[in-house]
Amino acid sequence: KIAACLFDLDGVLVDTARYHFLAWKKLADELGIDFTLEHNELLKGVSRMDSLDIILNIGNLQLSQEKKNALADQKNQVYLEYILQMNEEEILPGVKDFLTALRKLGVGVALGSASKNAPLILERLKIGNLFDAVIDGTKVSKAKPDPEVFLKGAEALAAKPAACIVFEDAIAGIEAARNAGMMAVGVGDPQTLSRANLVISGFRGLTPEHLFQQINEHTT
Ligand code: G6P
Ligand code: MG
Repeated sequence: KIAACLFDLDGVLVDTARYHFLAWKKLADELGIDFTLEHNELLKGVSRMDSLDIILNIGNLQLSQEKKNALADQKNQVYLEYILQMNEEEILPGVKDFLTALRKLGVGVALGSASKNAPLILERLKIGNLFDAVIDGTKVSKAKPDPEVFLKGAEALAAKPAACIVFEDAIAGIEAARNAGMMAVGVGDPQTLSRANLVISGFRGLTPEHLFQQINEHTT
């Protein structure tokens, strides 16, 4: 019996990766670093400061912590400009129906995201009311693949980890789910997310019943 479903935000419920990319790209350009879409893959699920470290590494740049804090803020200001222009239409196809169906079944729904902007994004998408708990980047101290974010989500819903399903688009997120003792559903490319119990391409047309049945077949 599935007690709860825990969702990553970026890349699962909404495609914010391109906004993160545009904001990091602007910063990298200013620093004279050649930052590509390929590099951007490395930043999925990675915290803001760790992302900056990865970019500075690409450019072989070493900066003081003070300077890095300022650059991370600068990137976030640009990112926020994109976020503030988002609306409900940017929710990925099928997500809203899937969350609504889970709630009807009495399954707990939580967000587990490394983003400190998660509450703002949920508000822009007008789906905050579909979550029983929101664990975001301000509530965790250890980044995925550490299981902290998902364990906190399960705890908030009083659900046992083994009865939880995590939905993730990042390799580190799938590992975090496994480290938490939860089932992991990858959203995206089966090759990249091969460590997941099951991989889906998205939520369009997907019902919880069908998903639960599929995951049962793959985990038993
Ligand atoms: C998610 C995204 C990452 C992002 C991180 C922190 O995990 O996948 O690309 O860097 O959140 O986001 P924030 O909004 O706090 O900068
Ligand atoms: Mg993600």
